[in-house]
Amino acid sequence: MRNFDETTITDAVLERVKAAKNDRIRQVSEALVRHLHAFIREIEPTQAEWEAGIDFLTRTGQMCDDKRQEFILLSDTLGVSMLVDAMNHRTPAGATETTVLGPFYVQRAPEHPLGADISGPIEGTPLLVTGTVSTAECEPLAGAIIDVWHSDDDGYYDVQQLDEIGEFAMRARFRTDENGRFWFWSIRPAAYPIPHDGPVGKMLEAQGRHPWRPAHVHFMIAAPGHRTLVTHVFAADDQYLDTDVVFGVKDSLIREFACMPAGTAADGREMRRPYHHLNYDFGLKADTDARRAEERAA
Ligand SMILES: [Fe+2]
Repeated sequence: MRNFDETTITDAVLERVKAAKNDRIRQVSEALVRHLHAFIREIEPTQAEWEAGIDFLTRTGQMCDDKRQEFILLSDTLGVSMLVDAMNHRTPAGATETTVLGPFYVQRAPEHPLGADISGPIEGTPLLVTGTVSTAECEPLAGAIIDVWHSDDDGYYDVQQLDEIGEFAMRARFRTDENGRFWFWSIRPAAYPIPHDGPVGKMLEAQGRHPWRPAHVHFMIAAPGHRTLVTHVFAADDQYLDTDVVFGVKDSLIREFACMPAGTAADGREMRRPYHHLNYDFGLKADTDARRAEERAA
């Protein structure tokens, strides 16, 4: 087959990818070709625009390293991350809703005892975070593993300033106690712009969009027999709740970061200055596949 033109090229490529041995790869390849060709037919790019598109994707890849993931930012800002999340986490009653992972999660967060202050060398308004982890049927989950991470009050994560601070901060792993409870201290996070000094920032500017996310604390919570929950809790008083650049806000994930006067905090700590208190009770969805595997093994 040769002499392809506008009217025959799409079918020719579709015919070629039929050779894929793996059914899923064939399905994904066919959909990619159909939608990509339809996109190109719709916009009819000039040769210079096609080159600009290639250059944009090239720079997006070149911007990525072990501290910066520009492709996740691209996925997030085009709403793709939330779409994938929504399709994969249809939430039953009693289970906490999910939202995007974001680019600042790191796998090797240090584990701390309950009640620890994880702010490290970072200063800010003290924040007490408390809550529980339960099943969707409200049974407390003891020993659930909770990863938390959040920004400082200038909107920066520890990994964006590791060279200056030299250690992880505002990031830790905890385990719930026998009643499914957890609590720790940190500082209140602020709203922040996603890193916008790269190609995704230029894209947002060209689209007439701001790069801001409302203040939030990230949580990843895992317990045997349950789907790992990836979510955030957002500050109720934030100005960006309705225009989050990555489309991640859900009403059920918004809470007051309550202003508390100096005095004895809920965990018994004596506070000489005012602080904020965030409480959230999480519900984990049963992982029926994992349950079945455990039952088979038993
Ligand atoms: Fe974040």
